[in-house]
Amino acid sequence: MSLNIDSVLNETRTFPPSPEFSAKSALGSWEEYRALHERSVEDPEGFWAEQAAHLAWFRTWDRVRNWDAPPFAKWFEGGKINASFNCLDRHLPARGNKPALVWEGEPGDKRALTYRELHAEVCRFANVLKGRGVRAGDTVAIYMPLVPELAIAVLACARIGAIHSVIFGGFSAPALVDRINDAASTVVITADGGWRRGQVVELKKIVDEALKGTPTVHTCIVLERTGKPVPMEAGRDARWDDLMREAKPDCPAAELDSEHPLFILYTSGSTGKPKGILHATAGYLLGAQLTSKYVFDLREDDVYWCTADIGWVTGHSYVVYGPLANGATVVMYEGAPNHPDTDRFWDIVERYRVTVFYTAPTAIRAFMKWGDEAVKKHDLSSLRLLGSVGEPINPEAWMWYHQVIGGGRCPIVDTWWQTETGSIAISPLPGLTPTRPGSATFPFFGIDAAVVNEKGEELPNGQGGFLVIRQPWPSMLRTLWGDDERFKEVYWKRFEDKGYYLAGDGAVRDKEGYFWILGRIDDVLNVSGHRLSTMEVESALVAHPAVVEAAVVGFAHEIKGEGVAAFVTAGAGHAQVPALAEALKKHVRDTIGAIAAPDQIHFTDALPKTRSGKIMRRLLRDVANGVESKGDMTTLEDLNVLAKLRAQDEE
Ligand code: PRX
Repeated sequence: MSLNIDSVLNETRTFPPSPEFSAKSALGSWEEYRALHERSVEDPEGFWAEQAAHLAWFRTWDRVRNWDAPPFAKWFEGGKINASFNCLDRHLPARGNKPALVWEGEPGDKRALTYRELHAEVCRFANVLKGRGVRAGDTVAIYMPLVPELAIAVLACARIGAIHSVIFGGFSAPALVDRINDAASTVVITADGGWRRGQVVELKKIVDEALKGTPTVHTCIVLERTGKPVPMEAGRDARWDDLMREAKPDCPAAELDSEHPLFILYTSGSTGKPKGILHATAGYLLGAQLTSKYVFDLREDDVYWCTADIGWVTGHSYVVYGPLANGATVVMYEGAPNHPDTDRFWDIVERYRVTVFYTAPTAIRAFMKWGDEAVKKHDLSSLRLLGSVGEPINPEAWMWYHQVIGGGRCPIVDTWWQTETGSIAISPLPGLTPTRPGSATFPFFGIDAAVVNEKGEELPNGQGGFLVIRQPWPSMLRTLWGDDERFKEVYWKRFEDKGYYLAGDGAVRDKEGYFWILGRIDDVLNVSGHRLSTMEVESALVAHPAVVEAAVVGFAHEIKGEGVAAFVTAGAGHAQVPALAEALKKHVRDTIGAIAAPDQIHFTDALPKTRSGKIMRRLLRDVANGVESKGDMTTLEDLNVLAKLRAQDEE
């Protein structure tokens, strides 16, 4: 495989950590990192056993790692543990009165919960779930705005061993139906609505629509968030507050097997339905805890803010499990970054004296566009560390983040990982890694990352190839929910003989061995840091009565990183007019969610195809990006198709 790597490799600026920062951080020197990393991949069992000892166990494990039947790993077999206990109970003696969640709603309402208060709410809600018949191993769907109750619901599931499946509140009813049915969830937890840019997102209405097609759901718990009246179906629906009032306060954490499933989180694949990534309790918790501690250099008095929604993996690992397992104070904000104004985030940083701030490149690019004034109005001197996640951060955005937000003094951790890896896999360690704008730098402990060719041979520095992880790690996904075959096929088949995990990203290492992530190698789009399958968007388009055929590709988008471009062939009798394009955008928004709505619609009488009938997306990508097509076109069935598409674009 050859990937175009020239553009990134001319970045040579290096930013060593400041001596002040290094002096206080958990790990002191670059040599210390190298030695510990080497040890962690050479003696993974020894390394992880030492690290796992810092978690609270009901029973210690018998065996650290079981890789007897790859690709199905097991970690800490024989151990008994509970993630909710590790995030709450164990902190009560020393941190009972420390704020755990400091939340602000979009309209400006505020709520803070200490560890003791959060523990009490979680216990009560765990009893609510039990009262509704939820048992260990059942799956619970959670579809909520970013409110404290979302974290409470997640931790309550973990407490009793129920498997949570959080579905991002921006998804539409059909997307919800697929995910609820795939996991066979029995209970759905939602809210009357949530706030986004001053508008109410009517979550309960969407759930009502979805629940017409989900036979397994017997209970829907509805939190009152906006106060807007919603219909309640007798027998099925119950109000959060009513149930909490009646519930008992005590609920000891269940003593669960290390490998007990903790959660399912759906993510897009290149083909077919979304993949239910399954994570197991002990290994996942350990990954989230350890990376939070080292990558975010968490200290007792930090005020930590990760802006991600809990509907994505970043929110699971770095709003809930990771920081809470470390006893940190976590800021949560419900709404949009530009409501009521473009300085909302900086206003929050100033008022709460946020010290560690973790966000996505798409947000950083939006802030750059909104201008420095919004930032300069606020005192951001409390910040000491910045993080980035979700897609490659372009060096220009990195520099802006460093200078304008970080005042030139905060290290930036550009963290590469995936829903599948469970926790950060490649990232600087802020006290010791000299950073380079746009590079995620080096692997975290226990991660044996490499860049390889088609045969799985490690490539020399400077040559782009497949990013792989060569041995299992505790927080890796265990399988795809209900689909072991697809799990093997997607992640392991390509390098089956070597047992390497295929990340699906291209990467290259520079002269000094720094990792640079080059983006996806499959047909998965990365829109605003979230993975979207071209296939899903195409299916949604084809489901529209006016559409005969559709192909979807990504194109470079100033804010979103990648935008969605759809090439559509309309059926006879359907005029290819702007009104139809608008109707199709709305249709995708309604069937998947706003995040998937196409930015461009190109009508075409035919799609460029190979003689065997495969759509040549590479060529469509060139059209969408407005660049010349290079490379082999001999397989193209009808050259006219492409010429017409280009001509039309220039009109
Ligand atoms: O392509 C990589 C990109 O996001 C993908 C994972 O997406 P998801 O599972 O939704 O998780 C997002 C949050 C962890 C990766 O395969 N990606 C994520 N972080 C980075 C990145 N690409 C480059 N640099 C990053 N820091």
